[in-house]
Amino acid sequence: MWKRLVSFWKHRGEMSVCPVVRWQTLAGKWRMVMLQKTLSRWLVCLIAVAFLTGCPKPATERGQKPAAHTTGPAASEATPSTAESAAPSTTEAAPQPSEAQPAEQPQQPAPSEEAAKPETQETAPAPAQQEAMPAPEMTSPATESQPAQPAAPQESAEKPKEEAPSPAEKPAESAPAGAQSAAPQGTPYEVKVPLGLPPLPIPEDNPMTVEKIELGKMLYFDKRVSADGSVSCATCHDPNMAWAEHTPTSKGIHGQVGTRNAPTVINAAYATSQFWDGRAKTLEEQALGPVANPIEMGHTIEGMVQTLDGIPQYKELFQKVFGTGVTPENFAKAIAAFERTVLSGNSPYDRYRAGDQNALTEAQKRGLKVFEESGCADCHTPPLFSSYEFYNAGVGMNKEKPDEGRKAVTGKDEDFGKFRVPSLREVANTAPYFHDGSAATLEEAVAVMAAGGIDNPHRSEEFDTVREAKITPEQQKDLVEFLKALSGEFPKVEPPQLP
Ligand code: HEC
Ligand code: HEC
Repeated sequence: MWKRLVSFWKHRGEMSVCPVVRWQTLAGKWRMVMLQKTLSRWLVCLIAVAFLTGCPKPATERGQKPAAHTTGPAASEATPSTAESAAPSTTEAAPQPSEAQPAEQPQQPAPSEEAAKPETQETAPAPAQQEAMPAPEMTSPATESQPAQPAAPQESAEKPKEEAPSPAEKPAESAPAGAQSAAPQGTPYEVKVPLGLPPLPIPEDNPMTVEKIELGKMLYFDKRVSADGSVSCATCHDPNMAWAEHTPTSKGIHGQVGTRNAPTVINAAYATSQFWDGRAKTLEEQALGPVANPIEMGHTIEGMVQTLDGIPQYKELFQKVFGTGVTPENFAKAIAAFERTVLSGNSPYDRYRAGDQNALTEAQKRGLKVFEESGCADCHTPPLFSSYEFYNAGVGMNKEKPDEGRKAVTGKDEDFGKFRVPSLREVANTAPYFHDGSAATLEEAVAVMAAGGIDNPHRSEEFDTVREAKITPEQQKDLVEFLKALSGEFPKVEPPQLP
């Protein structure tokens, strides 16, 4: 119970069922708009003065974006990795002279709507230098159904930061990252975060550029990354299957079958760890995993690098994007950058949250209520519908040799059979379910969850709340309907022409 209260408090922002909370939220937004306006006026003045006098920018702004970034809504608890990756290098990016700025700042406020409120005040300073947009959007996001624009600005905030200055002084900065990136000039890419998603964390040492994403896309679809040229990332994370796969467990090279279900790549960019057991921290870290996995792509990293390096056009592209030949690190960076474009939002749920009362059916509204009140949202926390914590739901625990899950990573007994809470966005399109693909339908998966998991000696007590809620079969139907409202828009990418 206590946990529930705490959790409710923590997530009060996203799940404003309570009118008081809603009111605070609105008040917060309004305050922010005002703050922004005032601040931007000041900032415009300051910048004007700075230009006239030729003095560099006020130091204050630098500090703020990192802050804004780290405190970013859902990100705050959701993504330690963000914080980390942001931290080390943030400062170098900002100090640059004035050309960088105008583009730079289209910041926060807008997209994060729901999630952002709590922190709004701190983030407010940011919008300052971009005189134009945020304010207008702020006022309307509720009614808008086009997610794209409100969201976009704050991402762009980050790359331009890096990109704009890059041609000139890149070398110095990039050193810490260990990226031997000599002169990665590229066209800065503006991520359009769809309605309902928080600002996207982008590591400082892997800024998004159009060219890098294109390269990442090729690598993602290229079967030559596997030992015998039979399997690509897209084989198991197929854009036509909501970037997942409709088989319980994946078939890799030589038809070998693994033991785990392939999760969707959609919104993986937000996860605070990768894989069902969280053994990789970031997408960059994750990307080399399957290459060397004997069952998945069955290659060696060196072998893969050699193959790609032997393809002149890849050689050229790596040179262009990273200023290096093919390296494992840059292979991973390119793929990760591509994956960061695979986002899903603007679902009926998001539109409902943004104020469109008709976006959800009656059954879905009932389902949403059950979802929030019986504890599902404690773990499947909006807006990403995952807390990215690890729990034992008892799935597959009656097997002869159950999957140890998180324990294999931490070595702790208490982590036996724990798996990372999966995001539920697009869940209606990613059957089958659970880490072992053992639930064929959404109804089945919801039934297991509604029962508070399956009994076993390691079942997490966090499932008690759900169990005690005694969810009825009708309510389960409503839950399933609600989950369908989490299907939104995501990119359907065609395989590119390969070198
Ligand atoms: C043979 C099938 C297969 C191939 C090929 C494959 N994957 Fe996976 N992928 C999986 C499976 C299965 C998992 C879950 C494994 C686990 O959790 O232990 C996974 C996990 C992931 C995750 C973590 C998602 C999450 O939510 O935790 C990402 C991201 C990912 N793969 C991207 C890639 C990329 C990029 C490639 C190509 C370099 C690739 N995969 C190749 C099957 C595959
Ligand atoms: C204590 C945390 C917790 C609670 C509470 C919880 N879940 Fe889950 N949920 C999980 C975990 C962990 C998994 C993955 C289990 C596994 O694969 O072994 C999961 C898996 C799922 C899946 C399968 C998704 C997929 O892609 O495989 C669905 C659907 C789901 N939960 C819905 C719900 C619903 C609906 C509720 C409320 C009735 C709920 N969950 C309550 C932690 C939780």
